[in-house]
Amino acid sequence: MINKDDKKSSMFENLGLSKGVLKGIREAGFSQPSPIQEQAIPVILEKKDIIAQAQTGTGKTAAFALPIIEMLKNNQGIEALVITPTRELAMQISDEVYKLGKFVKTRTVCVYGGQSIKKQCELIEKNPQVMIATPGRLLDHLKNQRIKNFNPRFVVLDESDEMLDMGFLDTIEEIFNYLPQQVQILLFSATMPTAIKRLADRILQDPVHIKITPTNVTNVDIAQRYYMINENERSEAVIRLLDTENIHKCIIFTRTKKEADDLHVLLCSRGYKSKALHGDMDQRDRRSAILAFKEKKYNILVATDVASRGLDISDVSHVFNYHIPLNSEIYVHRIGRTGRAGKKGVAITLVTPLEYKDLKKIQNDVGSDLELYEIPQDKFLSKSTIQEILKTKIDDKAFEIYEELKNHADASQITLKLISIYLKQKHIGLKKQDLDALEKNIKVQEQKKSPLTHQKSRRRHSQDRKSENRRNKRKSNKEYR
Ligand SMILES: Nc1ncnc2c1ncn2[C@@H]1O[C@H](COP(=O)(O)OP(=O)(O)O)[C@@H](O)[C@H]1O
Ligand SMILES: [Mg+2]
Repeated sequence: MINKDDKKSSMFENLGLSKGVLKGIREAGFSQPSPIQEQAIPVILEKKDIIAQAQTGTGKTAAFALPIIEMLKNNQGIEALVITPTRELAMQISDEVYKLGKFVKTRTVCVYGGQSIKKQCELIEKNPQVMIATPGRLLDHLKNQRIKNFNPRFVVLDESDEMLDMGFLDTIEEIFNYLPQQVQILLFSATMPTAIKRLADRILQDPVHIKITPTNVTNVDIAQRYYMINENERSEAVIRLLDTENIHKCIIFTRTKKEADDLHVLLCSRGYKSKALHGDMDQRDRRSAILAFKEKKYNILVATDVASRGLDISDVSHVFNYHIPLNSEIYVHRIGRTGRAGKKGVAITLVTPLEYKDLKKIQNDVGSDLELYEIPQDKFLSKSTIQEILKTKIDDKAFEIYEELKNHADASQITLKLISIYLKQKHIGLKKQDLDALEKNIKVQEQKKSPLTHQKSRRRHSQDRKSENRRNKRKSNKEYR
């Protein structure tokens, strides 16, 4: 039963926002605040510093934009500064602030590298209230005293972990030398690495910590699957899944920039419409890749975590983890790219036997059902096998071996045996039996390590039985393949 008070608190009307702002929210189509908004907005309105952690796509922009818009005084100066890692994000935030502040006439300006300094100075002179800036260009303006009426009362550090990854932390600390002492700082981040915590310790005053943990936001609209494969089968596994899944748009996350490039090149050579996105590309190329993906000129984006952080792309049907992600936070973060706005999404993780333990850890942390699937085989095997066999040129050596084989079996038997060898070679991914063997192996290893943990192993045994039951249930499920 829904508690009346719960219901009351989960409405924008109860967060301390005024009519004009509520009208902007309504017009933006937001009916209920997201958890991060519900928790952060009242605290920000109380003029407290905050450290807010929530995964991508949870509405962090509005969480800081709404209370800031509410508190603007229209005093002809720049009242709020939002620092964000990339130009794309700056523009995205500017759009959102403009949209939400439409009925109170909020004026914004974007400041980022790549645009002419003269043009930016002209825009800054038009008395914007909220400045959204990337670190490098902002510091450049500040050092050269190009910004007049610059007395922000609010400073937002958006996507702080990405700013760290991009090497902006020193720049940010330098920026703070140019800011008023009495400033309310709002630090937002999807993950909370130590360097960010340290930065927060240095610049924030008695911050309120808000953390929306991954388990709070596990999305029921995302079907999470994993496929067991061998190390050398990754790209082939992706291709088979691309061919059998009903893909509208997908993001394939790789660990390295090179991997992203290589997989993108391979996919293009096989006729798929893909684009790579990573930090080595210049701003313009990244921007055009993202735009092309948004407009569906390409439906596959092969990306690294950093390059794709924070981007708001709504109709991604599938997310692939080319490797198991480094930790649960990154996992949750990545899969949150799909299943947005009430649409169903599929998150696929490729796992090798060596990565299996990491998978178990994520499964444990995230507390959701990651289900085992098998790489589809049949369709590929029947169709392409016949083609490939018929097209194969006969090797001289083959005559010799055939002559010998004839002494042992008849022609049809020989053929069937050879096809079986071929099929075995073409099979990719581990079968369920392989996984059982792997689990047994892990158990034996663990027992060797700690022979006294009988109880634990008994508990684990019952968990295994549970997952066995789950797997059986899945087998009877029509959607299994
Ligand atoms: N309360 C809400 N109701 C519906 N949609 C929302 C709400 N808050 C934000 N959104 C939308 O969700 C998307 C993701 O929000 P964003 O602020 O970019 O997330 P984050 O910064 O956490 O990654 C945006 O399209 C935004 O307009
Ligand atoms: Mg964001």
